[in-house]
Amino acid sequence: MERKRKYVIKGRKPLKGEIEVSGAKNASLPAICATLLSPGVYKLKRVPKVKDVFCMLKIMEHLGAVCEFEKDYLKIDTSKIKELSVPYELASQIRASILFLGALVGAYKSAEVPLPGGCAIGKRPVDFHIKGLSQLGAEINLEKGNLIVKTQKLKGTTIVLDFPSVTATENLMMAGVLAEGETIIKNSAKEPEVVFLGEMLKKMGAEIKGLGDDTIYIKGKKKLKPVNIEIIPDRIEAGTYLVLGALMEENEIVVKNINKEHLKTPILKLEEMGITLERVDKNAFKVKRGKTINPVKIITAPYPGFPTDLQPFFAVLLTQAEGISFITENIFENRFLYVFELKRMGADIEVKDRTAIINGPTSLIGSPIKATDLRAGAALVLAGLCAENTTDVYNVELIERGYENFVEKLSGVGAEIKVEEDED
Ligand code: UD1
Repeated sequence: MERKRKYVIKGRKPLKGEIEVSGAKNASLPAICATLLSPGVYKLKRVPKVKDVFCMLKIMEHLGAVCEFEKDYLKIDTSKIKELSVPYELASQIRASILFLGALVGAYKSAEVPLPGGCAIGKRPVDFHIKGLSQLGAEINLEKGNLIVKTQKLKGTTIVLDFPSVTATENLMMAGVLAEGETIIKNSAKEPEVVFLGEMLKKMGAEIKGLGDDTIYIKGKKKLKPVNIEIIPDRIEAGTYLVLGALMEENEIVVKNINKEHLKTPILKLEEMGITLERVDKNAFKVKRGKTINPVKIITAPYPGFPTDLQPFFAVLLTQAEGISFITENIFENRFLYVFELKRMGADIEVKDRTAIINGPTSLIGSPIKATDLRAGAALVLAGLCAENTTDVYNVELIERGYENFVEKLSGVGAEIKVEEDED
């Protein structure tokens, strides 16, 4: 078994230098599944080497795919798929394993996928996925926690999502591209990762219209073909390092490989706070701030609204703002667990229903803290970096699910952060 580790951070060290953003985890996971839709060899560039990706690849290998990182790309060979059932031990580790449902049913008209695990940020049901696939003609039964899906053929129809769910849209797209006739997904998600998957499917030969809009139209094809693609930059990782740059007045951080188009709302919020981005090169921006940060109101919403995944970082940043800020979480009900940890560091935050009220500025003081989920964990590391004294962050395995070379990237700009074995 893997030894548990912790990060030991000495805070308040001014940070200076460049950090390069990796390819997006949440674009890589559906792209990996999409390689099942047409047997053959795929090359995916810029897939981040993070735990969630490795977990998806283990599932792919269990199904019969051959996956290898070579030079700067991930090679996946799906010519010899022999198994259509996803093992529980792996599915329970990652919520995105639900994406195998759409890919396997789309390609092989049969799948066995356990109800997924993943970060404990809310109830996270999969009813939209199940309902949509049934509407396409799949017969779905739940047996001993496994979704068992069979169908003779999938037949295109109009599906209206109750909420623009990211992975439900992705699953239905992957099923729709090989269904008979037209599949229309109304109230579809518009996230850049959804658009990216759509573009990959189009490159594979799918006919898709309406990407990035409320309604996606898919004309089913009999066959697709393997492709080579490059993963888009991770907008959440980019947001993480932009916040890092703004956390202390002395920080001088340049974030490279940013797609600013994907970060419009968070960048507008930064500007409202008095933080600006100065272009230093194509896709590279220096974070600039003055002595003080303005308080703001943030409401999370599906894209292009403020991303739920970035709210913990903004909460940490707003502990440094002059006055009262509000963050309302509208996507997941359990996304304020990190607040207890931040309060232990001296932050003045109260949570009322779905809103965190942050009274700043407070100087944070290092203390032992626990990552409560992937994004909150990374946000707490940032809190440690601007806190006085030493902060020990536990449960860091959660952070490593989604951040490539997190400790190395932070050390690269001068952060004092060490990885130690957690003896507790
Ligand atoms: C994806 C992202 C995750 C991000 C989230 C919101 C991936 C792998 N993960 O997660 O990092 O935080 O989008 O941007 O891309 N819901 C239902 N029934 C369903 C499906 C969803 O009620 O069948 C609800 C969820 O509980 C949640 C909301 O819909 O309240 C949105 O969730 P969804 O967009 O599906 O998130 P994920 O795709 O799981």
